[in-house]
Amino acid sequence: MSRAARAAWATPWLAFGLSSCRGVQTMLDPAGDQAAHIGDIWRLMLWVCGAMYLLVMGFLGWALLRARRGRPEAEPPAAGHTHAEPLLERSLRGWASLIVAGLILLVTVSFLVDRSLAETGPDPLQVKVTAHQWWWEVEYPGKTPQDQVVTANEIHLPVNRPAVIELKSQDVIHSFWAPNLSGKTDLIPGRTNYMAVTPRRLGPLRGQCAEFCGLQHAQMAFDVVVETPQAFDAWRAAQLKAAEAPGGGPEAHGKQVFEQSACGLCHNVQGSEAGASNGPDLTHLMSRAHIAAGARPNTRADLAAWIADPQGVKPGTPMPRVPLSANDLKDVVSYLETLK
Ligand code: CUA
Repeated sequence: MSRAARAAWATPWLAFGLSSCRGVQTMLDPAGDQAAHIGDIWRLMLWVCGAMYLLVMGFLGWALLRARRGRPEAEPPAAGHTHAEPLLERSLRGWASLIVAGLILLVTVSFLVDRSLAETGPDPLQVKVTAHQWWWEVEYPGKTPQDQVVTANEIHLPVNRPAVIELKSQDVIHSFWAPNLSGKTDLIPGRTNYMAVTPRRLGPLRGQCAEFCGLQHAQMAFDVVVETPQAFDAWRAAQLKAAEAPGGGPEAHGKQVFEQSACGLCHNVQGSEAGASNGPDLTHLMSRAHIAAGARPNTRADLAAWIADPQGVKPGTPMPRVPLSANDLKDVVSYLETLK
């Protein structure tokens, strides 16, 4: 093997070894029951298939050695018959049984894991997620319409409480994937799918659309916040409040511009005249870590850049460029910053 070939062979292994297996978007670092089950079966398959691979390579090496040594044939066997080789026949029989046993083990375990993924624990939290090109609408149903939380691109979950996520799509097929919590589930137009998750670790996680759904498929991410039940209740209560109208100044002017321009034709801000639902609900925009479905962090500069040139940030996005003067843009951003 040349030095270049050796380097090419070793690089991915080195990268794999050096890369941390911990993170906010990896199935190798489970943060919930379902992902832990998937992690278990993944490791089992790795060991079983790894052992099989080593055995196959071992036998191949043995066969090559035997062929090289050469064995004088006494007489060529009659057509349809081979020389009896008891050792070889015994090992072939053993090998076949090993393969059957390995397959039965993997099929049984994968059946059991599959069943466990669909199980929901007691009193699950209901979350509805609707995929759009290219963002996630997130709803928490309540007893009354006034008790329903609507947000976007961010899912809050109380730790140690099972949740059932209802998955729908508004346009094309998407796939919901928060690898630290569970596997992938498709969101299919005209169909409702369900996913059970039971988060077990506090902290932020990240999810991503895992089915090619158009130009901005790669920028269709979402944040998952796993928090204490108290923090979750506080978040829920805050999300239910309408936005307070700014008393005056640039923020009040920004609100006026927002309501009277095309912004208000797509977005909803509870407590304002903007009440549409074509785009993400912005009532509590500043409580979210990212904008444009994970495309940018939620900072003043990124908000301004996104509004000034949506196609520059996410080419193909249905969000149009709203012609605003520099001053109006600045005031609209100031208004958005009041939406805590
Ligand atoms: Cu939505 Cu890919």
